[in-house]
Amino acid sequence: MNKILVTGGAGYIGSHTVLLLIKAGYDIVIFDNFCNSSSESIRRVEKLVDKKIDLIEGDIRSTEDLQRAFDTYNIDSVIHFAGLKAVGESVEQPLNYYDNNVNGTVTLCEVMARNGCKKIIFSSSATVYGDPATTPILESFPTSATNPYGRSKLMIEEILRDLYISDKEWKIVLLRYFNPVGADSSGTIGEDPNGIPNNLMPFIAQTAVGKREYLSVFGDDYDTIDGTGVRDYIHVVDLAQGHLNAVERIDNFDEVMTINLGTGRGYSVLEMVKAFEKASGKRVPYKIAPRRAGDIATCFADPSYAKEVLDWEAQKGIEEMCQDSWRWQSNNPDGYRSESSNI
Ligand code: NAD
Ligand code: UD1
Repeated sequence: MNKILVTGGAGYIGSHTVLLLIKAGYDIVIFDNFCNSSSESIRRVEKLVDKKIDLIEGDIRSTEDLQRAFDTYNIDSVIHFAGLKAVGESVEQPLNYYDNNVNGTVTLCEVMARNGCKKIIFSSSATVYGDPATTPILESFPTSATNPYGRSKLMIEEILRDLYISDKEWKIVLLRYFNPVGADSSGTIGEDPNGIPNNLMPFIAQTAVGKREYLSVFGDDYDTIDGTGVRDYIHVVDLAQGHLNAVERIDNFDEVMTINLGTGRGYSVLEMVKAFEKASGKRVPYKIAPRRAGDIATCFADPSYAKEVLDWEAQKGIEEMCQDSWRWQSNNPDGYRSESSNI
């Protein structure tokens, strides 16, 4: 049976997608170097599906590691999550980001082509829209980047489009994620950031569980309903389902597909705090702080193209996002390092 290679499959979005793929009957192999994850996530997915998961521990920048995967398995397509994703770190370590994300993707595509595998679904980001002139955001909006992380995503999109121009046998889907949050409803897998979280939802969750004293709300003077930043939070299980729909349809596409995965609905920071307090029954103390450099006021998707071409739309609302984040956080206060006898 043909396999799907899932690069970065031990990470936050990858592990949720692997779970859904296996539940749907797909045969997969994870390829990860664990630079931002642990094998514990895979162990927990194995427990959920009651099945051993194939794994190649390797780096997407290594031709040898990738070739080992193609020599071992009959790989038909790739879902490519592997990459570095912290904006601040990318400013401090641009070469590391370009090497991992851009060079890693080039190496992956070279090895794929050499092995006759020409189907790839790539994790892009709403960050490629920069500061959009209007919302909701359509795929046709102009793109820009203000930091090496965002630029690496834009470069990879362009590289993949050039690859298609050079060889029309390639099937390429670029999925632009908005703000992934939440966790599988089992509460056993979830987002496990290293150190102090940069993103809002894990910071709120860690504050609610008592690991952080208070949330700093970055700016309350934006032109939004309550002055705080508005984002399109999307449940990670909905996001994972978007990948399944793309896998099912990829053979029918005869151009590079660029698709937003968002809900089409924006929530402010303070709306997220209130929703999380309701879902968890915990207080989330916060203080208003200065704006964060590089932040924009409002960002949310027009998801109608995903509905049209992937027959996909987000199903889960803000309550479920908060409940599932809370279940994961409260069961695993220290993420995958937590002692959990019942998991
Ligand atoms: P994550 O860090 O949890 O997962 C990425 C995985 O890739 C990790 O398991 C890491 O160990 C692995 N990896 C990194 N570099 C590698 C390399 N050189 N070789 C092999 N494995 C490597 O991140 P995530 O949140 O699951 O994000 C997955 C993808 O989606 C990333 O490409 C990210 O840029 C993109 N994305 C994420 C978000 C978000 O908010 N989480 C938003 C938009 C796009
Ligand atoms: C950030 C990244 C973006 C990336 C996205 C998803 C930056 C500048 N942008 O975007 O490139 O694609 O994550 O990974 O880092 N907030 C607080 N307090 C906090 C954390 C966040 O008030 O402690 C606010 C932010 O100002 C923003 C909202 O919460 O208004 C969401 O922030 P975050 O989760 O970091 O996502 P993005 O800013 O959308």
